[in-house]
Amino acid sequence: MSGKFITFEGGEGTGKSTQIKLLNDFLKQKNKQTLLTKEPGGTEVGAELRRILTEGEVNKLDAVAEALLFFADRRLHMVQKVWPAMENDTWVLSDRFADSTMAYQYYAYDKRLSKEDIQALYRFAVGDFVPDLTIILDIDPQIGLARSFKKAETMTNKETRIENQGLIWHERLRSGFLEIAKDNPERCVVLDADKPIDELHLEIVDIVSQRFEL
Ligand code: TMP
Repeated sequence: MSGKFITFEGGEGTGKSTQIKLLNDFLKQKNKQTLLTKEPGGTEVGAELRRILTEGEVNKLDAVAEALLFFADRRLHMVQKVWPAMENDTWVLSDRFADSTMAYQYYAYDKRLSKEDIQALYRFAVGDFVPDLTIILDIDPQIGLARSFKKAETMTNKETRIENQGLIWHERLRSGFLEIAKDNPERCVVLDADKPIDELHLEIVDIVSQRFEL
């Protein structure tokens, strides 16, 4: 495959969506063909799965069903969007990917599933394909949650099923992402998301430019 696959990860209120758009603009300026996408919900069926996963009561799905649905969404995303785009020389930028499953469904939910089960689902759904680069935006959950509450005040947000958790849960989520980065030092870069938007964008541009020799 001639394209690249770059994933953005992190907890609530890290500014992921803003940064992924800015990187997309930068790559376009460099004359790259790009596809900006997300999980869950990057495909038509995925959008339905996203609604099931993010809305309603937290206990309407058990841990196994929840993980299976995230991987069903991911499988369709790879087959219908990511891989075809990469074969067509496109740089795919995904707002979340499989590290989110490990961070949310394993670390944040305090290991309701085993790491091995999540890894086995990954192999089944995605095979041995991995992102070329993963940018993990890291922020103190107290700051991140304050940011996302502020944003929620101005929006009608029904997507509260997973995120409506206490501070300790969000702290486990944060350390989960940091563990993942430690376990995958070649692929993952952790950046301080409590920085001005422009400064963080320049850091991301530097990392991407160096890694892919732009
Ligand atoms: P978003 O906040 O990036 O829009 O993602 C929607 C929610 O889905 C968010 O609370 C994180 C959660 N999520 C998981 O719990 N596991 C996953 O594998 C993914 C991709 C997202």
